[in-house]
Amino acid sequence: MSIRFDGKVAIITGAGGGLGRAHALEFARRGAKVVVNDLGGARDGTGGNSAAAEAVVAEITAAGGEAIANGSSVTDDAGVANMVQQTMDKWGRIDILVNNAGILRDKTFIKMPIEDFQLVVDVHLMGTVKPTKAVWPIMKEQGYGRIVVTTSSSGLYGNFGQTNYGAAKLGVVGLINTLKLEGQKDNIRSNALAPTAFTRMTADLFPADTEELFSPEAVSPAAIFLASEDAPNGIVICAGAGVFSMAQVMESQPVALGREPDTAEKIAANWSKISDMSKAEARNLGGEHLTGLVNQLPGRK
Ligand code: NAI
Repeated sequence: MSIRFDGKVAIITGAGGGLGRAHALEFARRGAKVVVNDLGGARDGTGGNSAAAEAVVAEITAAGGEAIANGSSVTDDAGVANMVQQTMDKWGRIDILVNNAGILRDKTFIKMPIEDFQLVVDVHLMGTVKPTKAVWPIMKEQGYGRIVVTTSSSGLYGNFGQTNYGAAKLGVVGLINTLKLEGQKDNIRSNALAPTAFTRMTADLFPADTEELFSPEAVSPAAIFLASEDAPNGIVICAGAGVFSMAQVMESQPVALGREPDTAEKIAANWSKISDMSKAEARNLGGEHLTGLVNQLPGRK
């Protein structure tokens, strides 16, 4: 069964190039009306104009699709409000929001100016929160919405020189962990995509001859699936070069050690048991963690 978005409206942030552009073209090819948002700045977030977004709109319309450009920054409250208003004025609904905009300010933690940490958190985390917050009441009213956030293996697992980026990228996973619960009754589903692609963001990390293999177009099918009618809710998909997997936080079986003065020593003595992930389980919400803990208390087993 083919996935189509006829009659649906999708906002894609940071869609003037790289992954966002590939997502925008694919959503449009599948019938969505697309808002191509992009600030048009440099990789480190400096500068900006709407030419990049307009060029992608021209590509979509040339291929017979429908799209409009928006040059707002996802960090700017008035700009985000304007983007949502522009979409509502044009098409009267918002079904899909793909939060994709991003920048880098890599440095080791010791050398990282706090301003670079703040800016990266502002763009990736708050630049996801603000558009999501702006479309949420519209999706709730419609009784339909699909939110995609863009995380990263750097956030899920770590990467040298990316404390700012990694913290922000795991932050968006924390966001969907609760949005998945709060959106459930209104058919709003929230998921995360962890891409791997050759773009201007990663061009200096990949060997040049991998550009075609790791094309952004090879990631977009995951964005399409996460924004589809039958999307899952609250999951993380990793996607690169046409290879897909799911990432999840898992918890080992809880071990009750008591509350004696030597409990720290008991943790050390039992560390291999506590850290044994062979029977690890995922939790769907924080309360499930608490239940697992309470079930280990004396008299409860
Ligand atoms: P890119 O640099 O080609 O695209 C990012 C786009 O976001 C640019 O067009 C830029 O102008 C736009 N942008 C930046 N700040 C903005 C703002 N404040 N408001 C609106 N637009 C803004 O990079 P790429 O690789 O396409 O990245 C897309 C997303 O995927 C980012 O969130 C990135 O962190 C994430 N990602 C990419 C990976 C990769 O392997 N390329 C790996 C993991 C995550």
